[in-house]
Amino acid sequence: MKVKSVFILLAGVCIFSIGSGSALFAADYDNEVQAKKISFAWKVDGDTLAVKMSAQTKGWVGIGFNPSKKMKDADFVLGYVKDGKAKIIDEFGSGMTKHTSDKKLDGTVDATLVAGSEKDGVTTIEFTMPLKSADKHDTVFDIDGDTVVLLAYGPDRDSFKTKHKYRTTVKVNLATGASE
Ligand code: HEM
Repeated sequence: MKVKSVFILLAGVCIFSIGSGSALFAADYDNEVQAKKISFAWKVDGDTLAVKMSAQTKGWVGIGFNPSKKMKDADFVLGYVKDGKAKIIDEFGSGMTKHTSDKKLDGTVDATLVAGSEKDGVTTIEFTMPLKSADKHDTVFDIDGDTVVLLAYGPDRDSFKTKHKYRTTVKVNLATGASE
């Protein structure tokens, strides 16, 4: 009887894991902001920020933190899913309306892909990044203060070179989840 209960429990956990289709469960994100057709969910986990971004596109979905003006100096991470495989890039706002890879600027890749999916025209990318990396191109997060968040997604093409189809800016407090 006892063995049977354990089996049922394990089977239940397996079915739940497969059904969720993602490495981190929704419940793993403490906060979320929704803007038109894009959402940003996050969790501060020790010295790491775990991010889930999702948008109505078959192309890229992207996030940028703390620009000085427009897109300039923001710490960007963009991702897309091509042939079922997710790819992310770690970028820096090298101009008011452009971004360049941290690596190309002699920096380092500090964003780590967790999971990605493209389903019914919606792309979802999950990744983690340090709150304070050693790369000078990355933002140093102050989780108790304001964090300016740029959210954008591209057209239905798996290319990071395309401009956004939609973009917006929100201000959040990463610790409390307050947003404006
Ligand atoms: C190749 C990629 C990109 C190109 C060519 C591009 C280009 C531009 C251009 C020309 C503008 C000014 C005109 C306009 O508002 O449309 C702009 C503004 C903006 N972009 Fe991008 N962008 C790119 C990627 C991104 C990404 C990845 C994000 C965010 C994750 C983003 C967020 C924004 C925001 C929030 C603004 C408005 C800034 C403001 O007026 O304060 N962009 N971009």
